[in-house]
Amino acid sequence: MTKKEILDAYSFRHACKAFDETKKIPKEDFDFILETGRLSPSSFGMEQWKFIVVQNDELKAKIRPHCWNQVQITSCSELVVVLAKKILRSTHPYVTEMLTYKNWDEDRKKAYLERYKNHNDWRSDEELVHWSMKQGYIAAANMLTSAAMIGIDSCPIEGMDKAKVQEVLGIDTTKYEIALLLTFGYRLNPQPQKTRLSLEKIVEYR
Ligand SMILES: Cc1cc2nc3c(=O)[nH]c(=O)nc-3n(C[C@H](O)[C@H](O)[C@H](O)COP(=O)(O)O)c2cc1C
Repeated sequence: MTKKEILDAYSFRHACKAFDETKKIPKEDFDFILETGRLSPSSFGMEQWKFIVVQNDELKAKIRPHCWNQVQITSCSELVVVLAKKILRSTHPYVTEMLTYKNWDEDRKKAYLERYKNHNDWRSDEELVHWSMKQGYIAAANMLTSAAMIGIDSCPIEGMDKAKVQEVLGIDTTKYEIALLLTFGYRLNPQPQKTRLSLEKIVEYR
């Protein structure tokens, strides 16, 4: 892709407020979007995310009232719930297993785990899940952009009563917390003009 094509995709992406319910994203395209989430970077490579794809219309309808009744939830072609893992203390088997699947020698794994422990284990549960959620947002951003690159619209959704959405989805909240929702589909209306602060206003060189 040229730089112009890439920037065009960034301009094409906007918070789509209503999707055309008659249009369904082809499986191959949606798999591509998920793949860009999977390949995203994460702190310590812990892949702190899990993606729940809600395809059941009745379930979407149950979720919508807890998301400020936003129409994107039911009009989208695909609804992705980005979960943040909470099982991230250095002693948790998830963390140790994540290290074993890396092709490293024992000394390297030991040193990595020690650094991981110093980086994380002092955090409160709340801080730990926030750290985890930040990684989910990286995957989410990549999925939003990759969707735009193939002409698919999206809207990230944070406007929700998280506890209620978790309840509807039966999320095991000892292990996961919702970071945000992502809706994907095809726009019903033309996108509004994009407004952004200029680079001069947001970049400082030293
Ligand atoms: C983490 C996050 C959560 C958001 N939650 C919502 C939401 O619940 N509903 C909504 O309509 N837009 C939501 N947005 C979209 C933003 O309002 C939108 O990205 C911003 O106003 C800039 O507009 P643009 O994306 O169209 O350029 C969210 C965006 C982000 C990044």
